[in-house]
Amino acid sequence: MQNTASGKVILAGEHAVVYGVPALAVGIDRGARATARPLLPRERARLAVPTWGIEVSEDGDEMLSRAFRSLLNEHRQSASSRKESAFSVEAFADLPPGGGLGCSAAVGVAIARAVDPTADIEGIQRLAMAWERVFHGNPSGIDAACSARGGAIWFRKGEQPRPVRVARELHLCIGHSGIASSTKSMVESVAKQREKRPEVVEKAFSGIAAVVENARLALEAGDVVALGKLLDMNQMLLGGLLLSTEEVETLCRVARGAGALGAKLTGAGGGGCVVALVSDEARGNAVVQAWDKAGYFGFHTRVAATVHSSFVRERAAYDTAEAER
Ligand code: MEV
Repeated sequence: MQNTASGKVILAGEHAVVYGVPALAVGIDRGARATARPLLPRERARLAVPTWGIEVSEDGDEMLSRAFRSLLNEHRQSASSRKESAFSVEAFADLPPGGGLGCSAAVGVAIARAVDPTADIEGIQRLAMAWERVFHGNPSGIDAACSARGGAIWFRKGEQPRPVRVARELHLCIGHSGIASSTKSMVESVAKQREKRPEVVEKAFSGIAAVVENARLALEAGDVVALGKLLDMNQMLLGGLLLSTEEVETLCRVARGAGALGAKLTGAGGGGCVVALVSDEARGNAVVQAWDKAGYFGFHTRVAATVHSSFVRERAAYDTAEAER
């Protein structure tokens, strides 16, 4: 059975989220897939990722091996484990690595689902976080949460992610700067700036917190014009933290010139992808064509509006869980 996981787009709040500021993210339909075949307990588990042309066993020294081992160890300790502990896993990624779209988290979530199909969402997130920590050091967890849950989420480190109602279908364009970036080194760069100039960085984080809160309200009200302006503001604040690049600025400018309501880098920055919000599919095609003309690859994706009754049920379940904690 194919086990799937979403990629993610952070609409607002990346980097600040590492320091406890909330962030807003949406799952997208491109992501990752994995299958797992149980092996005999004495056999060593293996992972193949044909998309990356890599195959590893769980006892290797490579980062992928260590991440796989860490996920399996978490699984072996978990109560929901069905006692199988060795697997031959095959995973495929439909996202660019280092693109800010949560590629590693999506692969981790797909593998977690493949090795532990009975685990609940929290269990899947726990396994994926064990994997993510090997790649990213100290991730906030937003990528794994968004990948495991899909939809739109409000996320604060250490808290239960909350579903956010999307009142109106969103049309997003994702453009790739052509440069892969490392989340770990971009997070370290912000940490260094915070050490050197704490007041400047804290001011940027307060601005980002205000953007996130207003973006949540705009999403819930279906106000895409306001949401677009907030994406632009977030981009300015991220630029101030030295996370933007010439290519990212070009992608944002070209998108706005082709009619986007707003645009920003998404994820770690320092390259990776840009997200541009557009009003409809025709405008989305215009943005993707304008990027293509400027020499950049992009695609258009939608985030479905939330069906009201299912949202109310989901939100009530979260609120009850929160109250019981
Ligand atoms: C990466 O997708 C998002 C960052 O905020 C890092 C994190 O939250 O762990 C840059």
